[in-house]
Amino acid sequence: ELKDNSIIIVLGASGDLAKKKTFPALFGLYRQGFLPRDVKIVGYARTKMDQEEFYKRETSYIKNPNDDPDTAKAIEAFKGFSSYLAGGYEDGESFDKLNKYLEEIESKYQSKERNRIFYLALPPSVFIPVAKNLKEHCYVAKNGINRIIIEKPFGKDLDSARELLSSVKQYWTEEETFRIDHYLGKEMVKNLLVLRFANIATGAAWDKNSISNVQITFKEPFGTEGRGGYFDEFGIIRDILQNHLLQVLSILTMERPVSFSAEDIRDEKVKVLRAIPPIERSDCLLGQYVAANGKPGYLDDDTVPPNSVCPTFAATTLWIHNPRWEGVPFILKAGKALNEAKVEVRIQFKDVTQGIFKDIARNELVIRIQPSEAVYLKLNAKTPGLYTRAIPTEMDLTYKRRFTDAKIPEAYEALILDALKGDHSNFVRHDELDVAWKIFTPILHWIEGRQGQVPKPVTYPYGSRGPKELDAFIQKYGYKRSGDL
Ligand code: BG6
Repeated sequence: ELKDNSIIIVLGASGDLAKKKTFPALFGLYRQGFLPRDVKIVGYARTKMDQEEFYKRETSYIKNPNDDPDTAKAIEAFKGFSSYLAGGYEDGESFDKLNKYLEEIESKYQSKERNRIFYLALPPSVFIPVAKNLKEHCYVAKNGINRIIIEKPFGKDLDSARELLSSVKQYWTEEETFRIDHYLGKEMVKNLLVLRFANIATGAAWDKNSISNVQITFKEPFGTEGRGGYFDEFGIIRDILQNHLLQVLSILTMERPVSFSAEDIRDEKVKVLRAIPPIERSDCLLGQYVAANGKPGYLDDDTVPPNSVCPTFAATTLWIHNPRWEGVPFILKAGKALNEAKVEVRIQFKDVTQGIFKDIARNELVIRIQPSEAVYLKLNAKTPGLYTRAIPTEMDLTYKRRFTDAKIPEAYEALILDALKGDHSNFVRHDELDVAWKIFTPILHWIEGRQGQVPKPVTYPYGSRGPKELDAFIQKYGYKRSGDL
């Protein structure tokens, strides 16, 4: 439940993440009446700026395209319970000041209860000192709760993630920690549990007997423009596959949780992830984009080291060794600078037994996560008319047509609300993170040349569908396009 007298402290308040995601989400929650009563927002960062300058940044990504007076009023009210304090990340004194600042706000609350939610929108380099300083200088010892919300990257491989986790654990318990993977806040990712466990029809076909192969795809139509420095250190596998797509995979494949509680759900996710061995090199296709259509190649980005072999595209196939999924390939693929923006899950079913009809296309269930949220099932139906022939068609649940008045929440709105309520269901548990790194660490080390020669990614033109090798890669795992029959 929501706690009155809560202060949300956004550390890294002058950064991009706070500006683009955290503050607009907080505003969205406020606007819809979901923030606790008497909530206060405190921005904190190194940058020195006055309150006005802060308000400008805080609200710069809040949309009010039609100058709607109610929204404008709400923005003013939002500023009214926000404020900013500048301070360092490494020194205790700064955090003593922050603590005093928070106490002053709290002294005006009527009850003695004090709740502090620390949101760390910070680069990994200051992550541990901030976690430590917050605990040592800003922690409410009684009559209140303390929570810490943290963002990826959670390490770079299994060892560094374990180190990070155990450093933070010295100060913050699992109960107090909320690790964000913002894909878990997306409407269609949350929908997976309902689609699977509230329908007998999907449940019955959800295994190796019916399913041939599954693709989970992330496509972005832009490159690393300006963000190349960060990206080159991490690469597409750490940026998208190891976290966002693997999270989708775990919900898609886990067994039914005993209940809808956070621990029951996460127990099942961990269990299925533990049944996935580390990815084999032969199950990988790595790519890097090159200049095309007037757009620069990855290596043309000034912030990228020359000759970098960092993949901006990766397709990897994972195998789940349990009775439900033995032998079904799960292809996770993601790329920057592709031809479109799209994230989807595509479940391809097996062929029907041949004999009655000819050239029957396979059924496919597609869950489109973005844009234009949808669930559609490709199935065969009789051509309308006086003769019988099966043709492929679709059962289509496109959200904006079916739920015309619904507002799809932003992922960050959903997650911040969960954190305010103390619900961990859509946050990454420590053991989940550990097993996710186990799956990906060997290929990451291989890509970085720790096991000998560095694999060179194949190239693909900016704005294309991806490497030309991709079609053959997918077909190798049994995927059939309707035309391939
Ligand atoms: C982030 C990645 O985690 O997710 C970015 O670091 C990526 O590189 C982004 O662009 C994609 O998120 P969304 O919500 O736009 O699909």
